Amino acid sequence: MTTDIRDQAYLSGSEAQKLNFVNDSNRYIFRKHYRSGLRSHIFEILTAKDVLKETQGVDMDGIRLFPRAKPKKMFRILRNKFEKKEEIFHEIKKYHLLLKYLGPEFIAESDEFIVDYTGTGTNQIVLCGLQEYVEGEMLDPWRLFGEDYLWNLFKFNIHEDFQLQTLVQTAQKNIATFVKRIRHMITGMGYIPDLAGIGNLILTPDGALKLVDINNIVKIKLDDSILIDDKGYPSCDISVEVLSILEREILQKDIPTNDPIYRFFLSPERKKKVKALEKKFYKNL
Ligand SMILES: Nc1ncnc2c1ncn2[C@@H]1O[C@H](COP(=O)(O)OP(=O)(O)O)[C@@H](O)[C@H]1O
Ligand SMILES: [Mg+2]
Repeated sequence: MTTDIRDQAYLSGSEAQKLNFVNDSNRYIFRKHYRSGLRSHIFEILTAKDVLKETQGVDMDGIRLFPRAKPKKMFRILRNKFEKKEEIFHEIKKYHLLLKYLGPEFIAESDEFIVDYTGTGTNQIVLCGLQEYVEGEMLDPWRLFGEDYLWNLFKFNIHEDFQLQTLVQTAQKNIATFVKRIRHMITGMGYIPDLAGIGNLILTPDGALKLVDINNIVKIKLDDSILIDDKGYPSCDISVEVLSILEREILQKDIPTNDPIYRFFLSPERKKKVKALEKKFYKNL
């Protein structure tokens, strides 16, 4: 029964090849995650037992339920093509920087490693990560509406007002610390992770904020050029904008007009250029 499900450990599309570096196991199943980004292939690692329950169901007080199998871990494969091992080491180094600046409370920790992928007929070095699975709601920076946002997000699961209030305050405190640490990373290291991608930030049911997309960390350049990443996206500028949205919309902070980071990145002239680049990126998708 599990053999055919196990075979889901494939790369999709033109790269429809079995993952040569994943050993078949009777205990675990790799399943493509239902959300996938431009930059990474994301697989859920599930136990065969849980998948069986999900597909065949379990009896609970005479009712047949089909509980969703919850990933034990996430398995990420970065789509980037690396020419040299040094480039991968640089990528891994950036992940460790992120971990240092944000701390394990604010990112989905990942064991990063290199594999030799032979599925395309040649040998290719590929960066993978075995990552903690984060359960929760996506914090979509482009749909943050007003000061009740967090309240509305949590209210479906918690019906008692005091408990809900406490949870909202915990989430706000965590978001404030997250913003502070990202700012610290910008000023201390000159790097910023991609905060803009849909699903990159997840709010857990107990109010923790976690960055799960840990591989797109870009250099910040304080000059008139607007950096685009390897996909043509101005991710540095847009991530700074997301940071400001978190502060303004969720934390309801009045940001001083002379704030050095925002004054530089969010000036009206610069934003106009960034929007044009963003438009071009979406047109070319
Ligand atoms: N560790 C994780 N836990 C939960 N969801 C994850 C995890 N890693 C990725 N995801 C989800 O998978 C999707 C794609 O992941 P992401 O890391 O953003 O890929 P990409 O690098 O291609 O943008 C996102 O919607 C994200 O929420
Ligand atoms: Mg992403």
